[in-house]
Amino acid sequence: MTECTLVLIKPDAVRRGLVGELIGRFERKGLAIEAMRLRTMDAELADAHYAEHVARDFYPPLKAFMTSGPLVALILSGDQAIDVVRALIGVTDGRKAAAGTIRGDLSLSNRENLVHASDSPDSAKREIALWFPEHPV
Ligand code: CMP
Repeated sequence: MTECTLVLIKPDAVRRGLVGELIGRFERKGLAIEAMRLRTMDAELADAHYAEHVARDFYPPLKAFMTSGPLVALILSGDQAIDVVRALIGVTDGRKAAAGTIRGDLSLSNRENLVHASDSPDSAKREIALWFPEHPV
């Protein structure tokens, strides 16, 4: 079934000049770009986007990192796009992510892990509405 998912190419990836590499991996997989925007997350958007994490110990440094510079927000679509994108990205900790995944190949960090992607249909719907309120659901 065709799905849409929300992807953030995080500030570390923008600073490292990896935007083209990461978008290229998604495009080569066959996913389509439905929307794309360069934007700096503010505190309010960080708290809304990471609502499930705001009480966690790792949230203050995560928030500082995510608001530290521009990121690229995208809506990607394709067959089973939510799970397909999660598989391309790899597990959260770049030190543990499998070789061949984005984090496994390009990140050595649990926080600065280059990409965020929606983890379920409900989170995709919620995150797309946050980042692209004009986009139909
Ligand atoms: P993301 O997929 O954006 O979802 C939550 C983010 O929190 C995660 O990627 C990491 O950037 C960060 N994160 C999750 N767990 C930890 C942790 N234990 N320590 C530091 N950062 C974390």
